[in-house]
Amino acid sequence: MNQKYMVPLAGVLLLFLLAYAGVEGAGMQWFFGIIVPYVAVIAFVGGFVRRVMGWAASAVPFRIPTTCGQQKSLPWIKQNCIDNPDKASGVFMRMVLEIFLFRSLFRNTKAAFNRNEKNKLTYSWEIFLWVGALAFHYSFLVVIIRHLRFFLEPVPSCLKFLEFFDGIVQLGLPGLFISGAVLLLAALFLLARRIFDAKVSYISLAADYFPLFLIIGIAASGIAMRYFTKVDIIGIKSFTMGLVTFHPVIPDGVGGLFYAHIFMVSALFAYFPVSKLMHMGGIFLSPTRNMANNNRAKRHVNPWNYAVDIHTYEQYEDHFREKMIDAGLPVDKKE
Ligand code: HEM
Repeated sequence: MNQKYMVPLAGVLLLFLLAYAGVEGAGMQWFFGIIVPYVAVIAFVGGFVRRVMGWAASAVPFRIPTTCGQQKSLPWIKQNCIDNPDKASGVFMRMVLEIFLFRSLFRNTKAAFNRNEKNKLTYSWEIFLWVGALAFHYSFLVVIIRHLRFFLEPVPSCLKFLEFFDGIVQLGLPGLFISGAVLLLAALFLLARRIFDAKVSYISLAADYFPLFLIIGIAASGIAMRYFTKVDIIGIKSFTMGLVTFHPVIPDGVGGLFYAHIFMVSALFAYFPVSKLMHMGGIFLSPTRNMANNNRAKRHVNPWNYAVDIHTYEQYEDHFREKMIDAGLPVDKKE
């Protein structure tokens, strides 16, 4: 057993039990349902803005775009405008493809010793991380958008449309939402990769496992509520509308599982700004992605440069000429 994932797993189980027992045993609905979610949203928004402002105010003295293709050169050499953009339009395309399709991850390779070729180190294309990451992020997005139905009254028709497509397989009652199942499976795949792939496990830290366990916990408790234990959706809607209109109410008959679900969501929100999950905001401010590679075409002067007093060789020789001549050292000018 590895401490790097046992500790975060125990942490998530503790969060779940804390809320479940707090509500079922001690009747602390107001704490887990009202105080904690408000504090978590404040921590999320405040922390997110603070991190982004910090990055925005950081000095970027050098032009350091990652170059993954032919740069702009002589007219008869074909430039790769997206992987080595020299204009803002190319940078925009590169960012769009990175943000919506995780384009750089698509090139992911894995290194392994090839037993058939005397243990030669070989690199091969590894597409599964890209597929898993896309499935995870898009299903997460769809689940969050669908959840907006709890916080909006009337529910906009575009949300009903999304629900219709997400439930199109019409399996079971209540109908299966594809995104919820994909979210859980993709998060389990990403976790399994970190646990069972020795190379990835070696570089993984508790900070990598914790959000995965938390998201798995959130998805699993949500799925348990929808398909197995069932919850009073009308009561929950009055509760969520109370939160967004700042007139919080605690509905009767909503059990500990629901409060454990939103407690884990609150923990995720509060943890978000201090975690690696901030890559969501960081990608937009990443100088290796958001800069054009026109290093050679344009002279870039570091805006933080200050005037430096310099001492040229000429001045140096003027200063020491006589001593240099006496010592037999060569000089440019005799006098
Ligand atoms: C990070 C945010 C959240 C994630 C990832 C998440 C995930 C899920 C998932 C996967 C399900 C299973 C059913 C489905 O696919 O929709 C679910 C159900 C549910 N979630 Fe969440 N959830 C989140 C936030 C919330 C919040 C803030 C609430 C507060 C009201 C909430 C309340 C519920 C309820 C009531 C159900 C049961 C729905 C039903 O019976 O139809 N969730 N959640």
